[in-house]
Amino acid sequence: MSITFKHLLGIKNLKKEDINLIFKTADNFKEIINRPIRKVPSLRDVTIANLFFENSTRTRLSFELAEKRLSADIINFSASSSSLKKGETLIDTVKNILAMKVDMIVMRHPDPGASTFLSRYIDVPIINAGDGAHEHPTQALLDAYSIREKYGKLQGRKVVIIGDILHSRVALSNIFCLKMLGVNVKVCGPLTLMPKYIELLGVSYEPDLNKALEWCDVANVLRVQIERQDTSFLPSIKEYSNMYGLTKERLNSISKNITVMHPGPINRGVELTSDVADSKQSIILDQVENGVAIRMSVLYLLANNIQNKNV
Ligand code: CP
Repeated sequence: MSITFKHLLGIKNLKKEDINLIFKTADNFKEIINRPIRKVPSLRDVTIANLFFENSTRTRLSFELAEKRLSADIINFSASSSSLKKGETLIDTVKNILAMKVDMIVMRHPDPGASTFLSRYIDVPIINAGDGAHEHPTQALLDAYSIREKYGKLQGRKVVIIGDILHSRVALSNIFCLKMLGVNVKVCGPLTLMPKYIELLGVSYEPDLNKALEWCDVANVLRVQIERQDTSFLPSIKEYSNMYGLTKERLNSISKNITVMHPGPINRGVELTSDVADSKQSIILDQVENGVAIRMSVLYLLANNIQNKNV
């Protein structure tokens, strides 16, 4: 079996069968990375360029580790130390990197659509590692995979995504992914941080956090993305935190034991308190662990596609 896409630009263009294959392959890699010898030769002689035009901790390190576990050759690029500073365009930069015989690109960029734009000009597969407020497909895949791991299956589960939906690539990719897999999704947060036509994506808006928590099995809490806001969307962070921050008190006041997720980076004391982030209900570090297996799976399946075409 193989995936039906050449580039992983977003979840929107995937098929359910693609996601199921990514999960099945990730199951195998998860077992492998928990063995004493965690490295496999699957991507030997495949060269991958990690192009990060925007800051990242988890995604960059997770891709790099996934590539190393698969025995790929890696080059790392960060915009701050590159010739972009001297006026070189994105396409010229990438074409020069590809001239060094690179087989695949992983790219994070602050501009929505940057990886889609680039995919029209180059021939090798691109994985979007987050493009502005647009999509973050591997984050959504690892989030859905982590819910599947926790509950056994996704169909019929209830997930509420809380916070800054308007500026969040994680929210959009999660909505596409979870909806495709049969999950009921609500969004919750201040109306100023909701896209105007969010319900067209098949999700409903719940302004009251307590009601949203009472409804859900899983709360996926997002960071308020102050750096993407060109005007003030909130009276103050303190007020946001009072109305939408996840506290132990709030969790204890609902009638069931829900699961708490967060894509990171966390702002402790803003969108959730430390006693929630570090509680038994939190699967935040499981998400990070699963990220490596999911990224190994995506890299492996995309590389297999190239190899099958070259036979
Ligand atoms: N979740 C996520 O994308 O984190 P980073 O920005 O640290 O990569």
